[in-house]
Amino acid sequence: MAKYSIPVIDVEVLLSRESVLADSELEKLHSACQDWGFFQVVNHGVSSLLIEKLKSEIHNFFHLPFEEKRKLQQEPGHVDGFRQHLAVSDDQKTDWSDFFFITAQPTHLRNPQFFARIPFPLRKALEAYSSGLKTLTMILLGKMAKALKMDADEMEELFTDCLQRMKMNYYPPCPKPQQVLGLLPHTDAGALSIVLQINETEGLQIRKDGKWVPVKPIPGALLVNIGDMIEILSNGAYRSMEHRVIINPTMERLSIATFHSMNPDAEFGPALSLIDPTHQPALFRRETVENYFRNLFAPKLNGKTSNLDFMKIEN
Ligand code: SIN
Ligand code: FE2
Repeated sequence: MAKYSIPVIDVEVLLSRESVLADSELEKLHSACQDWGFFQVVNHGVSSLLIEKLKSEIHNFFHLPFEEKRKLQQEPGHVDGFRQHLAVSDDQKTDWSDFFFITAQPTHLRNPQFFARIPFPLRKALEAYSSGLKTLTMILLGKMAKALKMDADEMEELFTDCLQRMKMNYYPPCPKPQQVLGLLPHTDAGALSIVLQINETEGLQIRKDGKWVPVKPIPGALLVNIGDMIEILSNGAYRSMEHRVIINPTMERLSIATFHSMNPDAEFGPALSLIDPTHQPALFRRETVENYFRNLFAPKLNGKTSNLDFMKIEN
């Protein structure tokens, strides 16, 4: 059974001055990224008081009367905002969830009028959490570069203006849970996602060796997963794994997924420091971040079903 439990990485040990300890934790991180594309982090540096505050503010937000949440509704053409799930029928194939989406970083991309309308205590908690996760992301990316033997500057430069977006999810219970999915199977398009499970209800599952493996949250831990951008950057060494969310018949589930992507004006592909035309040919092509994300919203246009297919070099 141990084979099917998600690896746990201790960030304090990863940063330890004792090189024997740090190196062995780095090796664990490397294997987790290669074999699972998912791991939980403990001693991650984000204060537990802040996390508790954020959890209760998000719980309060989703339990506000609809009229209040509607004031923050997603407007046409915008990604930021609240959206209520549309329960068309019990066996609907779309995602069975309400969500609230914000662009948190870089701060100059925040929409100030929209931000000002978020209830003050929630906004303050989100701002502090956003900066805590940005720090954690930069630490993890730096360690991944080291484990991959990739040029540290190449990694850092791709994320100097890291785009961070947060999706707060509310999955209502469904009396016929086998007929709906909270979130359909997908891989994350960005670089690194960090998920905080707000309450006890399990639901997130990872497809590993053809099986759906449930994530059992460790109290106080954060769940990290590799997105398509890192699979491409690592030239296929690290895996962006498929995952989904199932619904509970009687209990609601809440979570917050924070997505980190490369600088919006960057161009990327397999790390230049990792490829060599004779021994390590690039498996993916280079593309601007802008075109890459544009493709995500128009996958049918070029006959490709995923971002990885869109970027793959055909032989
Ligand atoms: C996801 O964003 O893929 C999952 C988030 C969750 O656990 O609800
Ligand atoms: Fe996801």
